[in-house]
Amino acid sequence: MSRRLSEISWDEFNKIAPADKAPYLVENERPAHVLTAQQFNREQLDMLGALATQVRFIAKTKTGMKFLRDLLSHKRAMLYFSQPSTRTFLSFCSACEILGMSIGEVRDTATSSEFKGESREDSVRTFSSYFDLIIMRSEIGGLAERMAWVLSNTDRPVPIINAGSGKDQHPTQALLDIYTLQRSFEQRGGIDGKKIVFVGDLARGRTVRSLASLLTRYNDVEQCFVAPKQLQIGEDVLAMLKAAGVKYEVSEDFESSIPSADAIYMTRVQDEWDVKKGDSTKIDTSKYCFTVGHLVLLKKDAVIMHPFPRRNEISHDVDDDPRAVYWRQMRNGMWIRAALIATIFASDDKIRHYSRKNI
Ligand code: CP
Repeated sequence: MSRRLSEISWDEFNKIAPADKAPYLVENERPAHVLTAQQFNREQLDMLGALATQVRFIAKTKTGMKFLRDLLSHKRAMLYFSQPSTRTFLSFCSACEILGMSIGEVRDTATSSEFKGESREDSVRTFSSYFDLIIMRSEIGGLAERMAWVLSNTDRPVPIINAGSGKDQHPTQALLDIYTLQRSFEQRGGIDGKKIVFVGDLARGRTVRSLASLLTRYNDVEQCFVAPKQLQIGEDVLAMLKAAGVKYEVSEDFESSIPSADAIYMTRVQDEWDVKKGDSTKIDTSKYCFTVGHLVLLKKDAVIMHPFPRRNEISHDVDDDPRAVYWRQMRNGMWIRAALIATIFASDDKIRHYSRKNI
C-alpha cells in the first residue's frame, strides 16, 4: 500500500529503515521518487530490465528513435550534480534525450546561487519551478531523500532521482548492474543461484552497498566480499544479508575467490572519502587488482564488472576478453535509466505496445 511523503514529518521519515521506505516512494504503482535501491522488488527489476531491452532495440532505427523522442518531448529534466561524475551524468543526459526531454544542469554550485548563500532546499525548489524531474548527485548522504520530502510538501512535487548520495546509496547504478547481470546470465537461468564476488574498497563504495541490497531480491545468490581489513564491507550490510537469509562470505584472499565466481565486481579505492587526505595510500591494495594472469582462473562464462571510473584495479589488457563486460555495463546505464524515466512518466506501456508491433 502506498503512503504519501506529505503525510509524514521529515524526522519520522528519516528514521524509517531504507527497506521500509518503499511505500512512501510509489504513486499509482509507479516510482514517485527513486531514492534507495531497497525500494525495488523483483517484479519491478524484471519489468525495468525487459523495458530497457525494448528501448535498446527500438532505438536501433530512425523511426524507432522518432517514436521514443516523441514520448516525453513535453517534459524537462534538471541534472543537479554537486559531486563529480562522468557516466551517471552523461547516461542520464542521453536517456533524457532518447525520450525527447530537454535538460538543464548545475554541475558546480560555485556557478549557482548556492555560492551566494542560497540553501539547497531553496535551490531544489527553484529547479522544481522550471523542470518536471530532478536528477541529483551529492556527497551528502540522505540529501536526495530530504529534497524529495521537501518537494512532496510543496505544490510542485516533481520526482527526484538519486544519482548517488554520500557513501550509502547509488540506486540507479544498482539498476544498471542488475540489468548487466540479467543480460549476462540470460542463457544461464538468470541471476538466481549465482555467486557474486565484490572486490576492493567495499567500506566506502555506495555502488556495492546498493547492489548487495538488490541482489537479495534473487534466490540463492551468494555474495562474497574481498578486501583488505580496513576497506571491508560494513557490518550493517552483513546484518542486512543475514536478516534476508543470504549466504555470504568475507575474505582477504582475492585469488582464491576467482574460480568459483559467476561475476567479479571490482571497485577502486574511494580516497575522496579519506578523513585525512592520503590515508588510503597507506593501505596495500596491490593484491586486489585483476590482471591478465587471472583470466585463466575465471570460469569460461563468468563476467568481470566495474562501476568505473577505474584506476589500476583492472589492467587494460583484460579489456579485450569477452568476459570483461564493464564497457557494456556503463552503456546499459543509458538504457535502464531511459526505462526508469519512461516508467516514472507512465510511458512504459507505449514502449511495450510499440515493441510488440514493430520489433
Ligand atoms: N559509476 C559512476 O557512478 O560513475 P561516475 O562517477 O562517472 O558517474
